[in-house]
Amino acid sequence: MNEQVQGANQGPNSDQLFNPLSPDFIRDPYPHYDRLRTIDPIHVTPFGQFVTSRHADVSLVLRDKRFGKDFVERTKRRYSEKIMDEPVFRSMSHWMLQADPPDHTRLRGLVVKAFTARRVEDMRPRIQEIVDQTIDAVIDGGHMDLIEDFAFRLPVTIICDMLGIPEEHREVFYKSSRDGGRLLDPVPLSPEEIKQGNAGNLMAQMYFQQLFELRRRSPGDDLITQLVQAEEDGNKLTNEELTANIILLFGAGHETTVNLIGNGLLALHRNPDQLALLKARPELMVGAIEEFLRYDSSVQMTGRVALEDIDDLGGVKIPKGETVLCLLGSANRDPAVYSDRPDRLDVTRQNVKPLSFGGGIHFCLGAQLARIEAEIAIATLLRRLPDLRIDDVETPEWRPTFVLRGLKRLPASW
Ligand code: HEM
Repeated sequence: MNEQVQGANQGPNSDQLFNPLSPDFIRDPYPHYDRLRTIDPIHVTPFGQFVTSRHADVSLVLRDKRFGKDFVERTKRRYSEKIMDEPVFRSMSHWMLQADPPDHTRLRGLVVKAFTARRVEDMRPRIQEIVDQTIDAVIDGGHMDLIEDFAFRLPVTIICDMLGIPEEHREVFYKSSRDGGRLLDPVPLSPEEIKQGNAGNLMAQMYFQQLFELRRRSPGDDLITQLVQAEEDGNKLTNEELTANIILLFGAGHETTVNLIGNGLLALHRNPDQLALLKARPELMVGAIEEFLRYDSSVQMTGRVALEDIDDLGGVKIPKGETVLCLLGSANRDPAVYSDRPDRLDVTRQNVKPLSFGGGIHFCLGAQLARIEAEIAIATLLRRLPDLRIDDVETPEWRPTFVLRGLKRLPASW
């Protein structure tokens, strides 16, 4: 079966309920989610994908072993048998994010220690230092873009630190584009986008191969050194897997965190009472981050494939091999879980457990890191620039991707 969902065009197969790349959906997906949850909670797209929008169903699919990734077969069905010859898809097939056990367990096991709560807590002073330097660089100007000048630099610097990328190599990572997000959308890539993806992937592979050589010769206290040693250990990790998962860590930890900070700041400035409350009571910040994740998640969707026939998902049969799309952003606003006005931003809300980091065996490896980065970034901004105003809170420009939800820019003045 062809697994496409449509893009912005309303063709003969047009889907009135789920059209995730339409400008209206990108601007504000939440009324669309409301309709899906109410009218058709297990929606079938014209291309035969099942779209789950209720918290209970999304949560079940993420955790149930009868669902998996089945990346290679799923991708061949979507494109063609030959798609795995394309370097960018071949590389993705080695990502732990796309792997099923036992490969998933092995790959995740190699890096999980670097992301424990304890290790991440120890990074607080470094995160604070980067945030302060970022603000120092712009504070006298009275104006900045909260995305490019503020949110962007922190996650890149931290992941470069963790991987052990030498300072003198970093400029290219700061300058690199934020367009990788298209790889994750449920709308297939065009041949031109595949070509761009291949070029970016080959560049990254060439760079990382050189860095692996460097770390073999002079080991450091970093994740790449650890992984290179695991590779040399025999059958723990192949060279292709090593490169692919480094690229994944870079991508997964970057755009998502930039957007958590950006979406959170926009939500706060659209709700001045909540902004004032958070300024007056900074101790609410930890809970506020969970609320930002719930209210406007920087990851809106992930997917699974039924590994066997499923008799009853919310009353619907899912045949083996079919794809189920899980709308995390919709689950996060399901009134069945958030009974008190789920569409309202409330930084004092209790029992907020967003599905923004997924669930089950693929639960986000960087969740705690992202939370702490956002907490320090937003708290410091409110403290050091208390008069900051966003130039246009009503009609900011969103990036044209659906799975990764975030702003192109967010100019602000003080
Ligand atoms: C706000 C920020 C972030 C959000 C919303 C987010 C969201 C997610 C989600 C939803 C998944 C699971 C996808 C699935 O089940 O199919 C995931 C997995 C993952 N995330 Fe994150 N992420 C964030 C930040 C980070 C950071 C900072 C890192 C690392 C530096 C990271 C690394 C990963 C990795 C490696 C996986 C794959 C885990 C696995 O398959 O076992 N993420 N993330």
